[in-house]
Amino acid sequence: MEQKTILITGCSSGIGYATAAYLRKKGYRVFATCRKQKDVKILQRKGFESFLLDVSSSESINKAIMEVKKRTKCLYALFNNAGFVIPGAVEDLSRNTLRVQFETNIFGAIELTNSIMPLFRKQKKGRIIFNSSVLGFVSAPYKSAYSASKYAMEAFSDSLRLETPIGIHVTLIEPGPVKTKIDENALNNFKKYIDQKNSAHADIYKKHLLRLSEEKLVNFFRLPAHKVAVKVYYILEHTKPRPRYYITITTYIMGYLKRILSSRMMDRLISRAS
Ligand SMILES: NC(=O)c1ccc[n+]([C@@H]2O[C@H](COP(=O)([O-])OP(=O)(O)OC[C@H]3O[C@@H](n4cnc5c(N)ncnc54)[C@H](OP(=O)(O)O)[C@@H]3O)[C@@H](O)[C@H]2O)c1
Repeated sequence: MEQKTILITGCSSGIGYATAAYLRKKGYRVFATCRKQKDVKILQRKGFESFLLDVSSSESINKAIMEVKKRTKCLYALFNNAGFVIPGAVEDLSRNTLRVQFETNIFGAIELTNSIMPLFRKQKKGRIIFNSSVLGFVSAPYKSAYSASKYAMEAFSDSLRLETPIGIHVTLIEPGPVKTKIDENALNNFKKYIDQKNSAHADIYKKHLLRLSEEKLVNFFRLPAHKVAVKVYYILEHTKPRPRYYITITTYIMGYLKRILSSRMMDRLISRAS
């Protein structure tokens, strides 16, 4: 049987790394891409086929596509995983900050997908998995930029699914909290992009920062990244994968509540929870 090949973005840590490792164990040929050369080298030393791909750069996407074509004639799947959170109140998000958030989480994922579609069309088959989030259908305070990028991902994925021919499967995964570096990176992004001191939300930011650094509290509710990898494998092996998959209890609960509660009741619940 022919070995299945997958391209994954954002493999330096977290869900990307766990999925690359799991799929490799399952016999997949994995192009485990990272945006930094040092991480590419680390992965190569661990035996992964890895090369550079920074989805916020069109040039990097083009180079990576050339690399894919050089290495294989048949790509089975693309996992659009790369992403990060820029936390902060809506009032504190500059146009530039929103651009940074969207460049990676959405423009990059769509540009990469569009660059791979001709190959999938030629093959008459292919699979695209988008890593959305529970925040792709429920928005939380101080997470609007991230949430908006994931809502956008849901919209693009839904349209793409209706536009693609039979044989090409488009799927979203919607994880809730997963143990990765996402919060650590979010905290760095917060410090980099948000003017905390001059914000109307300065007091809340102080408390929020404290919470983000209390690892134990946050991690208690989180699934290990490996669980997401297992779900991605399930989707890849399924003959007819569904348009979307919930991952984590949090997502199931929020999905259910969103269907039965009014917006006002959801607001109350989410502001209490956050
Ligand atoms: N963890 C959760 O609770 C959770 C829940 C729902 C959805 N997700 C989604 O899961 C995905 C992976 O996040 P994670 O939780 O595994 O966090 P993570 O450990 O921080 O991993 C994020 C990965 O994305 C990479 N990345 C960031 N910007 C990139 C760019 N411009 N080009 C290429 N790669 C880039 C990071 O590379 P660097 O190391 O170079 O920064 C890293 O490899 C994200 O899309 C996130 O939204 C996570």
